[in-house]
Amino acid sequence: MIHKPVLLNEIIEILSPKKGDIFVDGTANGGGHTLAIWEKIKPSGKIIAIDKDKEATKSLQKKAKRKNIKIVCASYADLKNIIDKQDFGNISGILLDLGYSSFHIEKSKRGFSFQKDEPLIMRYDANKDELSAYDVINSMPEKELADIIYKYGEEKNSRKIAKKIVQKRKEKKIETSLELAEIIKSAFSKKRYKIHPATKTFQALRIFVNDELGELERFLPQVVDVLKKKGKLAVISFHSLEDRIVKRFLKEKKDVFKILTKKPITPSKEEIIKNPRSRSAKLRVAEKI
Ligand SMILES: C[S@@+](CC[C@H](N)C(=O)[O-])C[C@H]1O[C@@H](n2cnc3c(N)ncnc32)[C@H](O)[C@@H]1O
Repeated sequence: MIHKPVLLNEIIEILSPKKGDIFVDGTANGGGHTLAIWEKIKPSGKIIAIDKDKEATKSLQKKAKRKNIKIVCASYADLKNIIDKQDFGNISGILLDLGYSSFHIEKSKRGFSFQKDEPLIMRYDANKDELSAYDVINSMPEKELADIIYKYGEEKNSRKIAKKIVQKRKEKKIETSLELAEIIKSAFSKKRYKIHPATKTFQALRIFVNDELGELERFLPQVVDVLKKKGKLAVISFHSLEDRIVKRFLKEKKDVFKILTKKPITPSKEEIIKNPRSRSAKLRVAEKI
């Protein structure tokens, strides 16, 4: 299944890309937002389409041919370097649509989902030498593990979950997403759950392994230097930890940015029905003064 771009109409409306504009999509993936922006800025406009995950940009690679869309496999946290190298000039708009995509859940085979039995990698860049969810689950001391699950998953049951994981890994290494999901489930009492008991722990591991909050913190100050006057920054976040960082940053920089979304923009009921993944999305947009 192709990843459905979240809040697409709202993004186009508020960023209002125009012929000849230069845009950065920091989380391009299959190009849902990139290609819609391209339609508005073509043929003289340009887009730098960044994604850490080369595999996730495959369908965009085909569609980007003969268009002024430059795909860069890197982290958006390297924004300034990337733009300097491309020598693209002043930027009219920058978009981040945070987190993982349908590709990661359905096709990456990296253990992002507890519906599938896959190795515990959970990295966007699929770099085998870097920290993986397997390393965290099988090596991290119990207290640190519990802290991560609490901090990045906002999971109240974190101590019990970490204890179960440490007990189980003494018997044998925990290898796959399904094995891990079952262990997490066993740390909960047998009542009915609103969401799968592993949801928050999987979120925590993904955020930690990819340093998602750190990347966002490093990215934001660079936007100030690369955006032109009246250029816009748009960030779609999917949980309160990310949203808080963006909200706080824009508040601190109120002499640099005019906030265009006093309250974050959220998806319509129709969008949530068509694309349930959009339900927790929050869009914040600001314009450089
Ligand atoms: C929600 S998807 C973007 C979907 C895209 N906007 C669309 O509608 O087709 C988020 C993407 O961000 C990428 N990503 C996550 N962290 C990143 C980082 N620090 N730098 C660059 N890309 C990152 C992931 O690999 C994923 O492809």
